[in-house]
Amino acid sequence: MKAENNCIVIFGASGDLTHRKLIPALYNLYKIGRLTENFSVLGVARSELNDETFREKMRNALIEHEKANGAMLDKFCSHLYYQAVNTSDARDYGKLVPRIDELHDKYQTCGNTLYYMSTPPSLYGVIPECLAAHGLNTEEYGWKRIIVEKPFGYDLKTAHALDIQIHRFFEEHQIYRIDHYLGKETVQNLLVLRFSNGLFEPLWNRNYIEYVEITGAESIGVEDRGGYYDGSGAMRDMFQNHLLQVLAMVAMEPPAIINANSMRDEVAKVLHCLHPLNQEDLKNNLVLGQYVKAEINGETVAGYLQEKGVPEDSNTETYMALRCEIDNWRWAGVPFYVRTGKRLPVRVTEVVIHFKTTPHPVFSKSAPENKLIIRIQPDEGISMRFGLKKPGAGFESKEVSMDFRYADLASPSLLTAYERLLLDAMKGDATLFARTDAVHACWKFVQPILDYKAERGRVYEYEAGTWGPTEADKLIAKAGRVWRKPSGAMKKKV
Ligand code: BG6
Repeated sequence: MKAENNCIVIFGASGDLTHRKLIPALYNLYKIGRLTENFSVLGVARSELNDETFREKMRNALIEHEKANGAMLDKFCSHLYYQAVNTSDARDYGKLVPRIDELHDKYQTCGNTLYYMSTPPSLYGVIPECLAAHGLNTEEYGWKRIIVEKPFGYDLKTAHALDIQIHRFFEEHQIYRIDHYLGKETVQNLLVLRFSNGLFEPLWNRNYIEYVEITGAESIGVEDRGGYYDGSGAMRDMFQNHLLQVLAMVAMEPPAIINANSMRDEVAKVLHCLHPLNQEDLKNNLVLGQYVKAEINGETVAGYLQEKGVPEDSNTETYMALRCEIDNWRWAGVPFYVRTGKRLPVRVTEVVIHFKTTPHPVFSKSAPENKLIIRIQPDEGISMRFGLKKPGAGFESKEVSMDFRYADLASPSLLTAYERLLLDAMKGDATLFARTDAVHACWKFVQPILDYKAERGRVYEYEAGTWGPTEADKLIAKAGRVWRKPSGAMKKKV
C-alpha cells in the first residue's frame, strides 16, 4: 500500500538522523513507488540553509549512503524544501504557516501533515506547543501526526511529564512514538512465526519452555556519542525500549484481530505483567558493566572512560544483564535473561527459546537441549536445534540444526526499519509504534532498576571485545545455565 499524500515536516533537519536515516528512507520509498508524486519534505532547523543548500546536502548524503544517481535522485530532491526557524521560539513558527500552505497547494496534499521531531529531547515538549500556537496541530483540514523519537522521558516521572505536555496539543491517535526495533522485519516476524504456525503455539508457555534469552550485542563502542550516552547508559539506551519491546513480542498473547489497538493492548498487558523487582531481587538478578581498554585483533581499543565526551570518573553502564519474570498464566516461573552491551565480540540481536528436555534421558547422560534461535540481526533467520543419532554404533545423540536464512529467499526485499515506520505513519497505521501505556509500563519496571543503580549498583569492568563481566556468567550460572555466545553469522545452509 502507498503512503497517503502528505507534507513531511522534519524538525532537526540539519542533524545526523535526517541525512543518515530519514531522507534515505523516504528516497527508497519513493524509488519503489510507495510514495506518490504528491508529497513534499520541509526541513526545519535553526541553521540558515535555504531550499537549494538543503537539497544539495541531502543529495550528497543520498549519493554517499544510497549510491543514488540519475533522474530518480533529481526528481526526489525536487520535493525537498527548507525553512530556518528558531525552534524554541513560538513566534518564529509563524514562518511555517505560509510555507506549509504553499506546499499543500503545490502538491495537493489536502492539509495532511506529518511532523517528525528529530531534535534533542529537550524540544519534544516545546515543538508541539509552538505548532499549536499557530493552529498547526488541528485536524480541521487534513490529518496532523507527530513522530517522537526515543527517549520518551528520562525516567518514570519525566516520561509522565512529557506525555502530559504532548497530550495538551496532540491527541493519542496523532502521536507516533518511534522505536526502530519494532520496524525491523524480523521483530515483526516473531508474531507471524508464533501466531500463524500450529506447531509453536502449543509449546509456547511455561509447560514446555525452560527459559528465554534475549541478547542485543554491539561490537562498536559509543563512538562520538559519548556526551549523549553517558547520561543514558545501556539501560535507557537499549533496554527500556528496544529490548523490552522485543520481549513483549516474544511473550504477548495473540491479538484477537490484527489492528493497532488490539495488538498494542496485548503488548501493554504483557509489559504490565513484568514482575516488579525490589532492591533485594536486584542484588541477585542484575549485573552492570563498563568496558575497559583492550587489544582486539592486535589493535588497542579505548575503554569507555577514554571515549570522547565521557567524564573520566563516569559510572555509566555500557552493559547490563537482567533476569526477570512475567507474572501471568503463560509465563509464571519462566526466567527471561536479557542482556545488552557495547564493545561485545560481535553485533548480534537474537532471541533463544530454550525448551525443556525430555523427562528422562534415554540415550545419553544428558538429553540434548531443544532450542529455537531467532536471529533478529544481522544475517536474519531462524535456527531450530535438536538432537539426532550420531551415525555409527550405539545410540549417542548430537545436536543438529535446521536453518532458515532470509538471505536465501528469492527476493528478500526487506524494508529497513525507518522505511517501514515512516510508511506506516504516512498510512496512519500505528500498530508498530509504542502506545503511551506500554511506554509507562516499561518505565515503571525500569525505575527501581535505575534507583538501585543510583544508590548501590556496582558497575563491573569488562574488557572490550569480551562477553561482558564475569559476574554476568555467574548470574545465569546460578541456575546451572550458560549464556549462548553467538557468532557473527548464522551457520551456513547445509
Ligand atoms: C539506538 C541506540 O537506539 O539503537 C544506539 O541509541 C544503538 O546506541 C542502536 O547502537 C542499535 O540499533 P541497531 O538497529 O543497530 O541494532
